[in-house]
Amino acid sequence: MNRQRSLSSNPASALAATRQTRNRWYARLLKEPGQDQPDKSINFTVMEQRMGNMVKDKVIVVTGSGNGVGREFALALAAEGAKVVVNDIGTSVTGEGTDAGPAQKVVDEIKAAGGQAVANTDSVAEWDSANRIIKTAIDAYGRIDGVINNAGILRDRFFFNMSIEEWKLVIDVHLNGAFYMSRAAAPYFKSQNSGAYIHMTSTSGLLGNNGQANYAAAKMGLLGLSKIIALDMAKFNVRSNCIAPFAWSRMTSSIPTDTPEQKARVEKVKRMEPRKIAPLAVFLMSDQAKDVNMQIFGVRANEIYLFSQNRLIRSVHNSSGWTPESVADTAIPAMRSSFVDQLKSPDLINWDPF
Ligand SMILES: NC(=O)c1ccc[n+]([C@@H]2O[C@H](COP(=O)([O-])OP(=O)(O)OC[C@H]3O[C@@H](n4cnc5c(N)ncnc54)[C@H](O)[C@@H]3O)[C@@H](O)[C@H]2O)c1
Repeated sequence: MNRQRSLSSNPASALAATRQTRNRWYARLLKEPGQDQPDKSINFTVMEQRMGNMVKDKVIVVTGSGNGVGREFALALAAEGAKVVVNDIGTSVTGEGTDAGPAQKVVDEIKAAGGQAVANTDSVAEWDSANRIIKTAIDAYGRIDGVINNAGILRDRFFFNMSIEEWKLVIDVHLNGAFYMSRAAAPYFKSQNSGAYIHMTSTSGLLGNNGQANYAAAKMGLLGLSKIIALDMAKFNVRSNCIAPFAWSRMTSSIPTDTPEQKARVEKVKRMEPRKIAPLAVFLMSDQAKDVNMQIFGVRANEIYLFSQNRLIRSVHNSSGWTPESVADTAIPAMRSSFVDQLKSPDLINWDPF
């Protein structure tokens, strides 16, 4: 409706320019892996109709969007009409050093294609700097409609060797950072009676993975954070959902390749492009997702899935109360058939998504 109105009120030259800009975006989005140029036979008129301006004029902060999955979110949101705050401190995968370059580069890319974006290089991992990230949206565009908590680092180590520093650094960026960002945006969302959050979680926590106690704990903590935000803020029309992505990025490039099985796995992950996660994120930031709250999604290449969430699955009751012995003799045997297997993410998702 809005789109038709704005198109019909534009002069022909403006319409042509809009088409050209869009075509550049769609060409990018439609490139196949390893292909330098998009498929020339693509019918952009069809693509225009299919994509639309799904988040037009929404102001959305994407943390850690100088690289990888977040970068694709920023590009796709801008292509769908959002004004994007591209936040990134430009650090290494392990969180060492800073560089203003990645955030600015994404902003330049968005602007070159006719989109709107502003860079911010504050860290999500501290309360004051997280507030500055939200303030960047307010100063640049006068409002804030969405926050995607995507920034992340890794400090992998087997649990028995993990240092306090490795634990704290990862919790600070992923979990505390998501709290700071979400909390800083909450008063705006509450007063305007709208808003949307996405928190990037991981199957490392949801399903399990070796050597990632800090990361898995943070990513599972995000599920709790998201759930309670969803409950507490539903009355203000604010939604909170999680996405567990699978994508080849510098983060996943650290997956070990010591064994033939690991090598084969990495070859498959290399085909999982970060841009494939973006359509779900754009949808969740849009008004079309107004009824989607408190969910946990996953995306791997062409596959989107929904995760189960905790529900009671078995109950045992003893009218005279339990003793340690009766727990051992009755309760545990009654529940054992429902115990989870000690499997991990690659064992549980062992099919191809292409
Ligand atoms: N790639 C995957 O397969 C995968 C799987 C599961 C979860 N995830 C999650 O998705 C998100 C994006 O991952 P990615 O693969 O694109 O990683 P990435 O390393 O390519 O990008 C992460 C970005 O976050 C930025 N960053 C780090 N600390 C920051 C801070 N304190 N403040 C602001 N920015 C900061 C980094 O500079 C980097 O640009 C992460 O939360 C990650 O845990 C990714």
